[in-house]
Amino acid sequence: MDRINGVSSPPFKHRQIVMAERPSGVLTPQHFRSEVVAVPPRSSDEVLLRNIFVSVAPHARAVMQGPTYRPQLSPGEVIPSSVIAEVVAAPPGGPEPGSIVGGVAGWQEYSVVPLSDIWPLERVGKLSHHLGLLGRNGLTAYFGIRQVAQVRAGETVVVSGAAGGVGHLAGQLARIAGARAIGISGAEEKNEILRQQLGYSATASRRSPSFAEGLRAACPDGVDVYFDNVGGPVLDAVLPLLNKYGRIVCCGVTAQYDADRPPPGPSGLAVQLIAKSLLMRGFLVADYLSQWPTAQRDLFALQENGDLTVLEDVRDGLDTAPDALIAMMAGGNVGQLAIRLAPDPPEWLTAR
Ligand SMILES: NC(=O)c1ccc[n+]([C@@H]2O[C@H](COP(=O)([O-])OP(=O)(O)OC[C@H]3O[C@@H](n4cnc5c(N)ncnc54)[C@H](OP(=O)(O)O)[C@@H]3O)[C@@H](O)[C@H]2O)c1
Repeated sequence: MDRINGVSSPPFKHRQIVMAERPSGVLTPQHFRSEVVAVPPRSSDEVLLRNIFVSVAPHARAVMQGPTYRPQLSPGEVIPSSVIAEVVAAPPGGPEPGSIVGGVAGWQEYSVVPLSDIWPLERVGKLSHHLGLLGRNGLTAYFGIRQVAQVRAGETVVVSGAAGGVGHLAGQLARIAGARAIGISGAEEKNEILRQQLGYSATASRRSPSFAEGLRAACPDGVDVYFDNVGGPVLDAVLPLLNKYGRIVCCGVTAQYDADRPPPGPSGLAVQLIAKSLLMRGFLVADYLSQWPTAQRDLFALQENGDLTVLEDVRDGLDTAPDALIAMMAGGNVGQLAIRLAPDPPEWLTAR
């Protein structure tokens, strides 16, 4: 068997996690299956990666249900995720074997992906931060707050999923812009972290029987911007609080991902939009691809100078991924959720 960069060249076997059956309602372990299979051969425009981190994201749950901006997952297919990986083999002109890249791959030890699905990583910060702060979630928070909402000093900005990967950064970026950040999460322990560690001005718990009243009390001047990570009943509760010319940033609808079908639309949405001249806008972080490097530099600088605190929930071993996603859908994560499959390469331990 050939060896490339210390790793056996395919065919060799590795572990992966696939969708065993399509979920209906709440996600359970039976919807996943762990398999040992042969790594497929690589074609002339593909890269062989050894994955170091794989992300856990609500989007994985969404594609198990139906199409999003990606096609619906079929039973037997690998759960998709962002990855941070070491290049094992690449076509001529591609990245050097041994280099560390970001990519779109899945919950598996090795991945064979098109060259177009990977990108180089600048050797700054912690390696895991390239999934969170400097990866898709950090960039989503950055563009959502700065470009979609265009948050201004003195405004009130409400963030749902506020203790999650995107949300904990979005609220801090609103605070850094001079706004009053109000966080909504599913637990008082999470809300305490938002207030004590991240500088949120006030919080509300979506599971509290007095959620709507608590949120209203936290926003005495109304809401100028709602950064919506969850949709559903939380959106319903925020809508009446929006001020004239308010903006709703539609980032995600996590509340719908565990449901068989979308809930009926938020009642009175059109009336609110018209009466208050609201702007409700969806976006994909990929819409801002050309500006990612500038945003990554800004985000890194904010973290380096202590303005931005990064929260991570890193779990070990591929087999922990299904439980991590199940827990996430029940609100069991604080900050960016990621799975570590291998140690950081030594050169990253000294990166800054
Ligand atoms: N537009 C884009 O380009 C883009 C890019 C990246 C991510 N996203 C979206 O951004 C959102 C956040 O992603 P993330 O990775 O940072 O996830 P996350 O917020 O870390 O995790 C999901 C959180 O959603 C909350 N949640 C779960 N079920 C819920 C329900 N039924 N109702 C209300 N809240 C519920 C839970 O928090 P609590 O229990 O604390 O509320 C849970 O921790 C997702 O919808 C994702 O798809 C969009």
